[in-house]
Amino acid sequence: MSEPVLTRGGVDEGMVWLPDETATARFGARLWHAWEGEQQCVILLEGDLGAGKTTLVRGLLRGAGVQGSVRSPTYTLIEPYALGAWRVLHLDLYRLGDPGELEFLGLRDELGPATLVLVEWPQRGRGALPDEDLIVHLDHAGEGRSVGVSARSPQGGTMLQVLARG
Ligand SMILES: Nc1ncnc2c1ncn2[C@@H]1O[C@H](COP(=O)(O)OP(=O)(O)OP(=O)(O)O)[C@@H](O)[C@H]1O
Ligand SMILES: [Mg+2]
Repeated sequence: MSEPVLTRGGVDEGMVWLPDETATARFGARLWHAWEGEQQCVILLEGDLGAGKTTLVRGLLRGAGVQGSVRSPTYTLIEPYALGAWRVLHLDLYRLGDPGELEFLGLRDELGPATLVLVEWPQRGRGALPDEDLIVHLDHAGEGRSVGVSARSPQGGTMLQVLARG
């Protein structure tokens, strides 16, 4: 199967079609490899219920070498993964009552260099999240998913370029 490669729609945006679950997971793994790993990187994962956000995170973590089960932190809201010199924080804010609660969850203490932050349901944490580098928006489209990616920082712009390379 071919790798899902982004089609550039402008300097700061691109689109990719993901026909099935495997394509979503592969795209997640490509995101991991697009990250240089030095700076903190924040990726917001937008999309309705069942759009494929967790599938993408699972693919990313597998690409990063995580074994065992990867479940969305529906109740704990934040799941940290230690990966050698790097860290991944998976946030699922679906059940966040108020953005202020992120403070109590200790998000700020978890942030730092060499940390990749993936946020499902980011709109629930609006105002309390660190500035994003990339927005990945997944939409149901027929049997598959159509995905828009927007770069929101120079780091995000570099990652977008890498994702658009075949
Ligand atoms: N590209 C795709 N094409 C078709 N089905 C997909 C695709 N990507 C993921 N799926 C399927 O969509 C379903 C929902 O996926 P997932 O749980 O990742 O969604 P989610 O966005 O995290 O949902 P939630 O909002 O509930 O957290 C799963 O059954 C998954 O296999
Ligand atoms: Mg999910």
